[in-house]
Amino acid sequence: EEFIAVVPAAGVGSRMAADRPKQYLHIAGKTILEHTVDRLLSLPEITRVIIAVSADDPYFPQLPLATDSRITVVNGGAERADSVFAGLAAIDNNNAWVLVHDAARPCVRLTDLHALITAAVNSDCGAILAAPVRDTMKRGHSQSMQSQISHTVDRENLWHALTPQMFRVEQLRQSLTTALEQGATITDEASVLEFCGYTPLLVAGRSDNLKVTQPEDLALAEFYLQLLLK
Ligand code: C5P
Repeated sequence: EEFIAVVPAAGVGSRMAADRPKQYLHIAGKTILEHTVDRLLSLPEITRVIIAVSADDPYFPQLPLATDSRITVVNGGAERADSVFAGLAAIDNNNAWVLVHDAARPCVRLTDLHALITAAVNSDCGAILAAPVRDTMKRGHSQSMQSQISHTVDRENLWHALTPQMFRVEQLRQSLTTALEQGATITDEASVLEFCGYTPLLVAGRSDNLKVTQPEDLALAEFYLQLLLK
């Protein structure tokens, strides 16, 4: 079996309000993107990482990653799903497994990656890392500074979708083509398969596999990285 990682890293990171996209901020000695790729490549099964970056990205070419033979770079797109699609287009082996992993999740643990791979290879249509919801969930009318509660969402069996999300290349590519053509709302890869009638597995992962999104996430990510790199 061949295992290939696709890392969408073409976002601008507007919620971080930093001087550069969040994947290029430095924590624990290197950029978030470098940590993320190191995590994936520390798994012997993963032999190749495809990174989708913005066409005019001035930061990526300066990283040592840019000349690493295990790395392929592609131009990302306007939405995350377009970036993932561009990454999949660089894969010849339709039967390979692809692990799609956010550039902004540098804290993923090897134990979780192993659990995901084991679950996915034994599944019908792939698997994703996920974490059970702990807080009470409210539906509001908006996400502005204040919003009246509409209602409480039952949190039983509710999960946070994390990454990596792992599928057969051909199944993800076909499903993504259909979902993009039909204008589906796409926020992760599993939703693309769900749109096409498949039901991938949820695999319980650690909640410290956070997506660095807002300024306050940086200190937490650095702390978790220092723990796991010890
Ligand atoms: O913005 P968000 O945190 O949801 O982005 C998740 C991941 O998708 C990030 O790693 C980001 O760089 C990537 N992305 C992308 N192409 C876009 C938008 C986001 O590769 N057009």
